Amino acid sequence: MARRVGIIGYRGMVGSVLFERMKAEKDFELFEPTFFSTSQQGQAAPDVGKPTGPVKDANDVEALKSCDVLVSCQGGDYTKAVHPKLRGAGWGGYWIDAASTLRMAPNAVIVLDPVNRRVIDSALSKGVKDCIGGNCTVSLMLMAIQGLFDKGWVEWVSSMTYQAASGAGAKNMRELLLQMRTLTQGLGRTLDDGDASILELDRAVSKLLVSAELPTSAFGAPLAASLIPWIDSAVADGQTREELKGHVEANKILGLSPEIPVDGLCVRIGAMRSHSLAMTIKLKKDVPLPEIEQALAGANQWVDLIPNDKEATLKRLSPAAVSGTLRVAVGRVHKLKMGPEYLGCFAVGDQLLWGAAEPLRRVLRILLER
Ligand code: HSE
Repeated sequence: MARRVGIIGYRGMVGSVLFERMKAEKDFELFEPTFFSTSQQGQAAPDVGKPTGPVKDANDVEALKSCDVLVSCQGGDYTKAVHPKLRGAGWGGYWIDAASTLRMAPNAVIVLDPVNRRVIDSALSKGVKDCIGGNCTVSLMLMAIQGLFDKGWVEWVSSMTYQAASGAGAKNMRELLLQMRTLTQGLGRTLDDGDASILELDRAVSKLLVSAELPTSAFGAPLAASLIPWIDSAVADGQTREELKGHVEANKILGLSPEIPVDGLCVRIGAMRSHSLAMTIKLKKDVPLPEIEQALAGANQWVDLIPNDKEATLKRLSPAAVSGTLRVAVGRVHKLKMGPEYLGCFAVGDQLLWGAAEPLRRVLRILLER
């Protein structure tokens, strides 16, 4: 296929990570890039090692239409505004998007190729042109426990999440750090005094957490030294939208029919950019643990099965250990006391890499190879 690719929203957080990954993997050698922005039009495009022309206006439908593929990290409102205009104007190119807007549309495929290459290929062969990245937590969950789905062993999944600040946006990451600073600076020298009463320190922190000094405009609540058991808006049946996505997106990504129930509570915690999940998985039968471990470890090249011991867990199974890497760590794998079909495990992966940017750049390559 022709190779004119427009990159929209390359300066935001997901866009920047995508850009870095595309540079690292030399993706720009494969096509003619044009950069689009809602605010930088006319300025010099970022350096990709070859001429690209200046940045174009991301709201200029005619300019967008000249591309064979558009990759948007501009966000859901932009997708809502521009995608219908492009399709309405007869544009028949491929739309690759990080935003959730189009994910569940019948004529869109959710892309996570190590897990659902078969579903992607089938959609593309039927003429699907909208390739949308999945919700970060869902993509990470599927990368982590792909082996169990591939074997057809899963009856249901309860996934309790521990989601990083980055999932809420760049300003939220900053707010988390500002909250940390407010707390530690508020304690002053007392924090350095090893003899200071811990209850005195705790009282001071507790007071700061509910004081006007703590910046909370982004999260609406303290996150540092606390957590927020609510992500996104309310939907039906007591769920949040983030929790709803677990079921609908996982089933769509895997192309499952009948569907496998996926549900649980989504919680924001004070990690920076890696999401974690504690999962209870009901298996259809009592599969021996070594077989389970083999299936998990062999499912894709990024999953990293961590032995269920303290040393390996502390060293390798945490946001601190995986952030900035493409590793999706899964550990604490063991049978639960509910019965031999009940499996517990913990997974963690970088929310901006496999959770956002990586599936997008990989589907671009898939399209370019067609
Ligand atoms: N909705 C996710 C979160 C990130 O709030 O963590 C984007 O998929």
